[in-house]
Amino acid sequence: MAFITSGAAAVSGASLTARRAFTGAAVCPVPAGPAAPTAATWSMSAGGLRTFLVGGNWKCNLSKDAITSLCKELAAAPDLETDKVEVVLAPPTPYLDHTRSVLRQDFEVAAQNIWVGGPGAFTGETVAEMIKDVGCTWVILGHSERRNLPQIRETDDFIAQKTKTALSHGLKVMFCIGETLQEREEGRTLDVCVRQLHALVETIEAGDWKDVVIAYEPVWAIGTGKVATPDQVEEVHEKIRHYLAKDVNEKVAQETRILYGGSVSPGNCNELAQLPDVDGFLVGGASLKASFLEVIESFKSDLAATV
Ligand code: PGA
Repeated sequence: MAFITSGAAAVSGASLTARRAFTGAAVCPVPAGPAAPTAATWSMSAGGLRTFLVGGNWKCNLSKDAITSLCKELAAAPDLETDKVEVVLAPPTPYLDHTRSVLRQDFEVAAQNIWVGGPGAFTGETVAEMIKDVGCTWVILGHSERRNLPQIRETDDFIAQKTKTALSHGLKVMFCIGETLQEREEGRTLDVCVRQLHALVETIEAGDWKDVVIAYEPVWAIGTGKVATPDQVEEVHEKIRHYLAKDVNEKVAQETRILYGGSVSPGNCNELAQLPDVDGFLVGGASLKASFLEVIESFKSDLAATV
């Protein structure tokens, strides 16, 4: 496993420790970067583990029959060690109810979007109450396709408000962030991620973060087959954790899971799963096939790397 700089290796060591039950004390050095916080002393007494989480985002794909077949294939796999990995699948809205009824019970179901408020005269929208009513426990919000597609263009504030609404109804949220290729080339990766996160920090309470998972998904890696390198992934994840320590608190920084998304596949998941600040994946294309199970199984690489 390679890290970014020699300084970062020390940082990664501290993060690695933080993934286990937190005992003792350690100082986590702060990496260089435009929005990097000042030095933070990590309280290692928070306790608890960051359970590996694998999300499958089916986007606007599949049919009722195709979902039935895929769920049958996924059911053929052995029971998961649900204390070590959580799996969440996100079908298109019309199939939420059906997916919940045919999917194995140890997998959870997520919506791909919700309306920002409650029920009423909002043609075409779906509210959190309805998502919960059909057995969903999660929602994906802030996905780059909803942030960046010119027909949609959701803003940071709107996404943060939706997240607040979801959390207030007891839904858990996969909150997606990430930079475009142009933003990366201009050296603005961290600024963009921090800007997107800051809107949420301003909108929810520190206690709400227990139901939020961050998915770092560089836009240039989504659906392109161009996966970010382990160094690129670890660098951003580690800096996100520092940002949380500075703008929320150290407990939230230690306990919030940060997933990577962008062309994750059975071929690259095991290497990425071993990174100290990668706590799982959000998977698009590769979640549409039964081989998605191989990505789920990468939790074993994560565990092996932290022993
Ligand atoms: P991908 O999509 O795995 O097909 O790149 C990931 C995502 O959009 O969440």
